[in-house]
Amino acid sequence: MELSNFFSASEGRLDRWRTLHRIAKMLVGAADRDAETIWQEAQKLLADMGPIEDFCGYPGPRLMAQLNGRLQTADRIGFARLVQRISSALLTNSYRENPEAWKAEEEAEEHSADVLPPSIGRGQSRKPYFEVLIVSPGERSMWPQIRDVFRRLRRVEDQFIYEPVIVGSFEDAVLATVFNYNLQAVVISDGFGFHSHYTVPALREILLQQVQIGKGEQAVTRDLGTTLARLIRRWRPEVDVYLTTDRDVGALAGSDEAAPIRRVFYSVEEPMEIHLAILDGIEDRYETPYFDNLKKYAARPVGTFHALPIARGKSIFKSNWIRDMGEFYGANLFLAESSATTGGLDSLLEPTGNIKVAQEKAARALGGDRSFFVTNGTSTSNKIVHQALLVPGDIVLIDRDCHKSHHYGVVLAGAQPLYIDAFPLPQYSMYGSLAIKPIKKALLQLKAEGKLDRAKLVVLTNCTFDGHVANVKQTMLECLAIKPDLSFLWDEAWFGFARFSSFLRRRTAMGAAEAIREMMRDPEYRTRYEKFKADVGEMDPKDPRLLDIHLLPDPDKVRVRVYETDSVHKSMSSLRQGSIIVVADQDFHKVEASFKEAFFTHTSTSPNLQIIATIDVARRQMELEGYELVSRAIQLAIEIRREINNHPLISKYFRAATPAEMIPEEYRQSGFTDWGMPGWRMIDTMGALDNDEFYLDPTRITLLCGHAGYDGTQFKGLLANDYDIQINKTSRNSVLVQININNTRSDLAHLIKALADMARAIDKRLEEGGEAEKAAFRSRVKSLVEDVPDLPDFQRFHDAFRDDPGSATQEGHMRAAYFMAYDAGNREYVKLFSKEIDERLAKGPELVSAKFVIPYPPGFPIMVPGQVITQEIITFMRKLDVKEIHGYNAAVGLELLKPEVLAARKGNQTII
Ligand SMILES: Cc1ncc(COP(=O)(O)O)c(C=O)c1O
Repeated sequence: MELSNFFSASEGRLDRWRTLHRIAKMLVGAADRDAETIWQEAQKLLADMGPIEDFCGYPGPRLMAQLNGRLQTADRIGFARLVQRISSALLTNSYRENPEAWKAEEEAEEHSADVLPPSIGRGQSRKPYFEVLIVSPGERSMWPQIRDVFRRLRRVEDQFIYEPVIVGSFEDAVLATVFNYNLQAVVISDGFGFHSHYTVPALREILLQQVQIGKGEQAVTRDLGTTLARLIRRWRPEVDVYLTTDRDVGALAGSDEAAPIRRVFYSVEEPMEIHLAILDGIEDRYETPYFDNLKKYAARPVGTFHALPIARGKSIFKSNWIRDMGEFYGANLFLAESSATTGGLDSLLEPTGNIKVAQEKAARALGGDRSFFVTNGTSTSNKIVHQALLVPGDIVLIDRDCHKSHHYGVVLAGAQPLYIDAFPLPQYSMYGSLAIKPIKKALLQLKAEGKLDRAKLVVLTNCTFDGHVANVKQTMLECLAIKPDLSFLWDEAWFGFARFSSFLRRRTAMGAAEAIREMMRDPEYRTRYEKFKADVGEMDPKDPRLLDIHLLPDPDKVRVRVYETDSVHKSMSSLRQGSIIVVADQDFHKVEASFKEAFFTHTSTSPNLQIIATIDVARRQMELEGYELVSRAIQLAIEIRREINNHPLISKYFRAATPAEMIPEEYRQSGFTDWGMPGWRMIDTMGALDNDEFYLDPTRITLLCGHAGYDGTQFKGLLANDYDIQINKTSRNSVLVQININNTRSDLAHLIKALADMARAIDKRLEEGGEAEKAAFRSRVKSLVEDVPDLPDFQRFHDAFRDDPGSATQEGHMRAAYFMAYDAGNREYVKLFSKEIDERLAKGPELVSAKFVIPYPPGFPIMVPGQVITQEIITFMRKLDVKEIHGYNAAVGLELLKPEVLAARKGNQTII
């Protein structure tokens, strides 16, 4: 089993029920002589379904037993009826709220009442449904009794309803945690065994590698309860784990072992206590303090006398001219508008009430120590972090093709950017990501030149627009080995969802920060570090070996200082501009005041309440169903990739770029090339995720369209206009198809159908157009696929903006250049295609940009203020066939700083 079919175990479950339904229907109409074969087919399918069904609350053992009974007694009609009922309850999800779905067929009404799981009961409002895993040491014959005990604890006043799912071994508990998306809590009773009675080699491999347990007897004798708790929380950190034990609960509860456990119970404790604890745990995740209060606020008869006419909607619903706005959005939007920070609405700028609690919950969900809601996008979150952590003169190591908010953030902070280029993918006119080696090289050069103390921050994008996911842990470890108190800003604008994937979480900033904290406490790491230190000695920054070995930081010196910014609106259910800063900074107290100032600088004094509320709600959703939604999105993305690349017609012209095509071999140390590689096992995938320098986010699909003769912009237009398909961004010969928690199998079908239609149309055009059409097509494809401009690197700032022009590191005073351009007397304009450009490139004086020049695509600055413009940049600009270039107006030409003004400026002389 590999990642490509890992998730399909859950997805395939529904398919198998559909198939069983089809077989059951055939059975009803079949002649007696055919019935036997069909019965056998049904029997085999039911047997295959057994293991997964054991781990799910619905249909549960009673209905499954009834189904098997009908199979034994050859009751064709009864069998078909029951299969039909179960499969439709599963497909429509109605078992979550409809007690009828749970009834065994011939059951009397009175009897059914106490066995119906959702005693959601009639007439009550809908109660959210979930399942609880009970890991029991008891005999299987005892399980019905345990199930009944929990069911009988249900009370009318409970806010939620759950169904127990019982397993009897460590491995089964892990399987249920992995595959049952409905699980929200696990109750572990000490004393159960290790091995599953199912054969699951893939699971054994993962257990061995990930949990470092299970080596034969050792596993059986270890304390399985707490080990299981640790593993479950590692796989699904949001799930609540409870332990009942007859050990010394007092001592256990206070120990490190019990840290992943929400509550420890003494075995003979009242089951009601456990029931209440379970509900309390769900309530904690379900509660959305800000949103809940906003709803209450909206329902109050508030009279408003402040500057927000839209509040309460009276200016809209009474209007003769804009009433349609009210009808379109509905009254609640306006009832929930306010500019008040009192009445329980709290203040985003100085939160003390429900925003504070909502932020704490979001920090928990995303794995940080604290979090801050931002209502103006990650563009603002990034600027806040820059301003909070940097002062003028600081050096910031920064990914040159990161989002423009970082470049502006550096200007605002007055820090000096030391730009580092990502590896290029010129064949697709895009950059990849920043490898570890050039970052290390820059840090070592700073150290060699005695400037390391000024290097304060490393800014990286994870994942990139095109899906390059860094090895976050390795990157930070190696940087910290050179400078142990370095701070990191990981721009995870696209990647917030990854926290809820058991696979991708390790490659998020917060996942890695947690891993590093754990590592620094681990005595085994200390031994490794001592050995490393003995081998390497005092690190000589000029020693070239350091670039090729994995550097280890000193556990006594490391400070974990990690900031992550997420566009909640890009990957979760928040309104546009909902963003969050998540912090895991051991030294936050040192920057708390400057962080607050930076937050004040950039935050509106009238933040949008609806955005705040939806960030709160997005958190609730991800904590309760993020695991399922993200697993499904990844599965869908892998299927779309496979459909495109294996489809005989579509793949003639289109292709989903594989990890092997998007990531150079040197960064895929495991040899991983694509999902579904023959012979590739789950453990190999885990290895690639843990160790490869880059991984590709499967949900970001670079769809290559050059071989169909379309450039990205053309293809994007075609998809939008002719097929109603909106895609993300474009490059010269590709578009980006992004799969998220919102996409369904119908979307897959929609895209595949559109691509097939287009491929057919191209086939037809080429067939009917004769040789001339074919030649024109070939030349168009060649120009798109082969004649691609090289991507220009940063090179350097002009000497006027360098403290020491001779220095090996290329940081510069970008802010001074930026403000120099404010004075019209300092600027000049030269047309891009003029002779003057070529002459100055050949003989000088140097061309120095006055501006950020950002073409879309690729969307990163190919020039920044103060940067010397090279031949490569001019060639790239001249070949660029995009319409939108921020900072450049073709009619007036490139905006440059005048050579004489530059000559008059000395070193780091400030300009303003
Ligand atoms: C890497 C990256 N960071 C930050 C942003 C800005 O995020 P927002 O649109 O939430 O302001 C973007 C936007 O596309 C981005 O691609």
